[in-house]
Amino acid sequence: MISSAAIVSASILALVVPHTLAVPFVSEATTTFTSAASTTVSVVPVTNVTSHGRFTGPPATTTGALSTRVTASSIAARPAEKYKSQYPADGKLHQPQPAPYTPGGGLGTNGSEPVYRVISDFDYESVALALYQEWIELDLFRWGLATFSVDEFEDAGLHAEDRYLLEFMANQEVGHATALTNMLGAQAPVQCTYNYPIANVREYIDFSQKLTRWGESGVYGFLNHLDSRETAQILLQSISTEARQQMIFRQFGGLFPMPVWFEVGIPQSWAWTLLAPYISSCPSNQTRLIWQNFPPLRILNQPNPNRINGSDVWNETTSGYANALNNTGVRVSEDCLYTVDGSQDCAPAVTQNRSNPLSYPGRQVFLKWDSPGFRTGPNNSYVTSTSAGTPRFAAFVSQLNVTYSPLRNVSGNTGYAIQPNSSTYEGDPAINGTIFIAITDDDLYITPFNLTLINPHVNALAIYQAG
Ligand SMILES: *[C@@H]1O[C@H](CO)[C@@H](O)[C@H](O)[C@H]1NC(C)=O
Ligand SMILES: *[C@@H]1O[C@H](CO)[C@@H](O)[C@H](O)[C@H]1NC(C)=O
Ligand SMILES: *[C@@H]1O[C@H](CO)[C@@H](O)[C@H](O)[C@H]1NC(C)=O
Ligand SMILES: *[C@@H]1O[C@H](CO)[C@@H](O)[C@H](O)[C@H]1NC(C)=O
Ligand SMILES: *[C@@H]1O[C@H](CO)[C@@H](O)[C@H](O)[C@H]1NC(C)=O
Ligand SMILES: *[C@@H]1O[C@H](CO)[C@@H](O)[C@H](O)[C@H]1NC(C)=O
Ligand SMILES: *[C@@H]1O[C@H](CO)[C@@H](O)[C@H](O)[C@H]1NC(C)=O
Ligand SMILES: *[C@@H]1O[C@H](CO)[C@@H](O)[C@H](O)[C@H]1NC(C)=O
Ligand SMILES: *[C@@H]1O[C@H](CO)[C@@H](O)[C@H](O)[C@H]1NC(C)=O
Ligand SMILES: *[C@@H]1O[C@H](CO)[C@@H](O)[C@H](O)[C@H]1NC(C)=O
Ligand SMILES: *[C@@H]1O[C@H](CO)[C@@H](O)[C@H](O)[C@H]1NC(C)=O
Ligand SMILES: *[C@@H]1O[C@H](CO)[C@@H](O)[C@H](O)[C@H]1NC(C)=O
Repeated sequence: MISSAAIVSASILALVVPHTLAVPFVSEATTTFTSAASTTVSVVPVTNVTSHGRFTGPPATTTGALSTRVTASSIAARPAEKYKSQYPADGKLHQPQPAPYTPGGGLGTNGSEPVYRVISDFDYESVALALYQEWIELDLFRWGLATFSVDEFEDAGLHAEDRYLLEFMANQEVGHATALTNMLGAQAPVQCTYNYPIANVREYIDFSQKLTRWGESGVYGFLNHLDSRETAQILLQSISTEARQQMIFRQFGGLFPMPVWFEVGIPQSWAWTLLAPYISSCPSNQTRLIWQNFPPLRILNQPNPNRINGSDVWNETTSGYANALNNTGVRVSEDCLYTVDGSQDCAPAVTQNRSNPLSYPGRQVFLKWDSPGFRTGPNNSYVTSTSAGTPRFAAFVSQLNVTYSPLRNVSGNTGYAIQPNSSTYEGDPAINGTIFIAITDDDLYITPFNLTLINPHVNALAIYQAG
């Protein structure tokens, strides 16, 4: 039966169509309208951090991660809830419609007014972590512009318009920091001071490309677990922008912009582990975080995206954790920025084929990890820890997959693993792009939505430049 509402709207349509067709085509606006600015929401106060470098101040009085009453040593795995398998996904409707053109179901769809605010410890700690990340990105992008000369940028193939893009990306961070601060309230973390293991523009681009990878992936890891879906909505719309930044830094560095079909998500403690060492100090009353700091992992043959043969490399990083580029030892004849061979060069570009891949299945990846118990993070006030037993695997975490490769020739805190040959789906090699390697004591089966259950098994953590 056709409802009367449908008949009414059909007849309106019938009346409207001829009018629409009668509207003359105008190629240019003939009248100049002015539009008064609507309310402008002010951004959070931002200062240009002027001091950079390692923390040298007095020992912090408060140390360690924030904590409260802990009710178990880990989260136990449990079977799936039955209802999740019961919906007959057959393309037909199975529930009454709450309104025309509106399917039954969904969360936050019943007309309740949205509240853009964190509503649990999980929400607060996750969004506060994301805010620490927004702040470092704001500083890092501005720091680069302030630190390197126009000539240095030009030498790296980055011109005035590229530098403007960088400046614009910094401004985006002001907006993201504002949105997150507003959802957290008065005790939201503020700007800190930072240290970057960077000596030139190419190293800067590489570090930024890696830092934005854990920023982006850190949010993907928790976004769908947030209690406040309104908060998740805003965060999604900011992290999508950050994802573009990550890709732009890859393009600035002459990498293939997106060599994967899926972007990877990681647990919050991984994002915090990777971020914390680059924060030097925070104000005395800065809100602290609950997340764990795992020990650093160094990739001794971390692929060097500046080399013509980027996988043929030894010890060309500046630190564990980010394992970002140290470009000092690369001779001009080996540097893909300067090669005239178009199939081997790595100058900034929308996309670059690299005829020598940065890594490949079967590659030996040489690893060195630290023991726990070292100070890290703002004011050296956090302490690295692990609850894992003897290191046995290198977990390659990329796309939708965690692929374990046994550690071989383990001697003390070193060993190597063979890069696995696995695919996410047919035609999509799982291990490519800027990914993560964790040393683990077990090859626990986990998938994107329960990845955090790996944490009790993690010994150390690094970024791996697979492609
Ligand atoms: C509307 O949905 C929210 C969750 O999305 C729920 O908390 C609330 O109770 C619902 N309100 C009504 C009136 O059903
Ligand atoms: C901070 O630096 C940016 C450029 O990096 C500049 O445009 C802005 O005016 C500076 N802000 C302050 C408060 O100095
Ligand atoms: C820290 O102190 C400043 C200045 O008194 C205040 O504005 C801010 O809200 C405080 N931050 C926290 C996290 O308490
Ligand atoms: C961190 O160090 C700075 C510089 O010494 C100091 O001003 C600040 O109060 C310290 N913050 C904390 C949380 O101890
Ligand atoms: C690049 O380096 C790898 C590892 O050392 C080596 O196996 C490969 O043959 C090299 N490729 C070229 C084209 O030189
Ligand atoms: C790597 O190089 C650094 C200096 O850049 C040196 O201190 C360190 O011992 C080297 N490590 C290895 C394993 O070669
Ligand atoms: C970078 O590598 C050079 C050797 O090529 C080494 O002397 C220097 O200490 C390294 N820098 C860092 C920050 O590790
Ligand atoms: C780029 O790489 C793809 C995949 O290896 C290849 O099919 C294509 O021919 C290459 N294009 C150029 C211009 O090198
Ligand atoms: C990563 O993707 C690039 C671009 O498609 C490809 O050339 C390269 O061989 C891939 N690397 C690995 C390790 O699969
Ligand atoms: C691993 O250990 C074996 C036996 O000690 C040795 O023959 C081999 O060269 C080692 N491999 C590497 C890559 O160090
Ligand atoms: C990678 O993840 C996809 C999606 O969950 C899964 O279907 C596939 O089997 C995984 N691949 C491997 C090698 O584990
Ligand atoms: C994670 O989820 C997968 C299903 O996607 C399940 O098979 C696996 O057992 C879970 N892992 C843990 C440690 O609970």
